[in-house]
Amino acid sequence: MQLPNLDNARVRSKKEVKKIDYKFNNKYQNIGKNLTYHVKTYGCQMNEHDTENIEGLLESLGFSKNNEMEKADIVILNTCSIRENAHNKAFGMLGRLKHLKEENPNLIVGVCGCMAQEEVVVSEILSKYRHVNFVFGTHNLYDLPRLIYENMENSKTKVLVESIEGDVIEGLPVVRASKFKAYVNIIYGCDKFCTYCIVPYTRGKQRSRKMEDILDEVRKLKENGYQEVTLLGQNVNAYGKDLDEGYDLSNLLEKVAKINIPRVRFITSHPWDFTDKMIEVISKYENIMPYVHLPLQSGSDRILKLMGRRYTRESYKKLFDKLKKIEGISITTDIIVGFPGETEEDFLDTLDMVNYCQYDSAFTFIYSPRVGTPAAKLYEMDDTKEEVKEERLYRLNELINNYSLLSNQKMEDKVYKILVEGKSSKDGMMYGYTETNKLVNFKGSEDLVGKIVDVKITSAKSFSLDGELVE
Ligand code: 5AD
Ligand code: SF4
Repeated sequence: MQLPNLDNARVRSKKEVKKIDYKFNNKYQNIGKNLTYHVKTYGCQMNEHDTENIEGLLESLGFSKNNEMEKADIVILNTCSIRENAHNKAFGMLGRLKHLKEENPNLIVGVCGCMAQEEVVVSEILSKYRHVNFVFGTHNLYDLPRLIYENMENSKTKVLVESIEGDVIEGLPVVRASKFKAYVNIIYGCDKFCTYCIVPYTRGKQRSRKMEDILDEVRKLKENGYQEVTLLGQNVNAYGKDLDEGYDLSNLLEKVAKINIPRVRFITSHPWDFTDKMIEVISKYENIMPYVHLPLQSGSDRILKLMGRRYTRESYKKLFDKLKKIEGISITTDIIVGFPGETEEDFLDTLDMVNYCQYDSAFTFIYSPRVGTPAAKLYEMDDTKEEVKEERLYRLNELINNYSLLSNQKMEDKVYKILVEGKSSKDGMMYGYTETNKLVNFKGSEDLVGKIVDVKITSAKSFSLDGELVE
């Protein structure tokens, strides 16, 4: 049994990335006949999309979906490593599954996702969570049918995790969560190695899919009536750099836009790789949504350097100003407070950048040490008190929420296009998202789901808007 290894996961070679076409092995056909599955997903869009592939694989084996975890024959946890609380949630769920397994010894429990790539986690599962049947890594997803088959034959815990740079697997089966919005991976992994981040270790080397494979997928989505595609990557702006084919994200965005899906999105953008050509293309095509998620992480040059972010306050502002010129654009961000050694002065620099950028919204976090990353060593020497970090987070959120409300208030009395997603928790209300990815609630009927409608904004809050349908 091979355990994951952070030292191996850190390696970046010049080796060519292999493209592998997934092939279904008939030996495993029907092993899930009359059985049901439940997949629990934690973390980012990348994980959500992996779950769509996991469900596709499970259905190709004959399993059918069970919305009730307690009644399923196989439960898979697709985990996230980004912060400690994501770990805690998954371990909490593993505790619950232990009881389920006591009631139903035939239950198969699998763990995958980013946590499966961490040595410390896998060792803990092996020693303390013996009811887990198997652990499989982000690079081993395609091998799930074999794992399940072997576990049904003899039910010992198995670990199938490789700490490798990774390949590009094409043609995995997929069960999409939505009939009108789809995620499309364009680039896997990350080579940025920001010092706080575990992702380059859990997701492997930065590797782009071939443009033709992406376009084929988008064309099929268009044929099937999809209204929106989101191009996914840890850093989409690096798209193509590893391929030597002479194309980049601007070329890809342009080609995708021309397929004429009504809404094209892309996430996440690292400020380092954003080119003028990309900005030009985003402005030029109406169906490329005027929405950019541009993580700032910190507003202090000193901390940005310690984080290994490769930009400064000034260069970020310059890029920000260029993006702001795109008609109707909304810009959101991620910010970490309490990075090891962050002083009040550093933190004030972050607030200053928030005042400058006046983001439409932001995800904010307290720094969470990740085993094996460079910043975790700085954390050991950091004596900043937890209360101080919490207080900074509070002050930051107050400011962010203020600007969210302001930007939402500017939308009042105007009409926006909303892609309707579903029923809202309030009776008779529906919800959907603007082109700029803002949540809008309005009165409407269920037959609007999946359609793009005009809604006039009647009132703004920090996190959502209320509106009324314009007939
Ligand atoms: N601690 C806190 N936040 C983190 N992020 C990534 N790693 C950490 C960490 N160790 C945040 C970053 C990133 C977002 C997805 O999660 O802000 O952009
Ligand atoms: Fe993590 Fe930085 Fe890569 Fe984003 S760009 S996934 S924060 S290492």
